[in-house]
Amino acid sequence: MRSAGSSEISSPEGGAGSGLRLRPLEYADLPVVVAIERRAFSAPWSLSMFVLEIAKPGGIYLAALRTGGAASPLCGYLVCARYLDVWHLMNVAVDPKLRRRGVGGALLERMFEVAGDGEQRFTLEVRASNRGAIEMYQRRGFVAVGVRRRYYQDNGEDAVVMWRGEPDG
Ligand SMILES: CC(C)(COP(=O)(O)OP(=O)(O)OC[C@H]1O[C@@H](n2cnc3c(N)ncnc32)[C@H](O)[C@@H]1OP(=O)(O)O)[C@@H](O)C(=O)NCCC(=O)NCCS
Repeated sequence: MRSAGSSEISSPEGGAGSGLRLRPLEYADLPVVVAIERRAFSAPWSLSMFVLEIAKPGGIYLAALRTGGAASPLCGYLVCARYLDVWHLMNVAVDPKLRRRGVGGALLERMFEVAGDGEQRFTLEVRASNRGAIEMYQRRGFVAVGVRRRYYQDNGEDAVVMWRGEPDG
């Protein structure tokens, strides 16, 4: 697993004494990750999918934790794999109770930092109906470059393909 370091961000959630800490995702986090995943997606990843993914060397795997004594501190996560010279954002989700408080954006910013930003290129697929996520990606420099028709097997939905940096031909 690529070292992502840790960082504290002051009070992105707006609560008195609360804040956010970002650190590398650990195997011990996965039960909570899977619980959030099941509430976040209609076709969630299984525990074994997470285990296999974060075992791959060279990826960026991040956990977002609330600070300030929260009973269940893990509130979001991000999984990003590297294939050749392109970073593929595979998964990002935030606890439904804690959305729109900057956690998803903070995870993306940390991913850019760990990757080295600058010349790095990133790509992802997102459900065409997922306007909130598309908005978040656009605000972080991703551009929609195409559509994969009927990409999602559970409901036949199209995927919007987004890139940050020069897309592959
Ligand atoms: C997408 C997701 C990760 C965003 O996490 P988050 O912590 O709520 O994101 P942030 O608070 O950092 O939002 C950043 C910006 O994204 C946009 N955004 C996020 N959710 C939005 C929504 N539901 N509607 C419209 N815009 C939204 C906004 O521009 C927002 O900025 P603002 O709050 O200042 O207006 C979260 O909604 C989630 O877990 N969704 C389910 C899983 C998912 O769809 N993952 C992406 C798969 S490709």
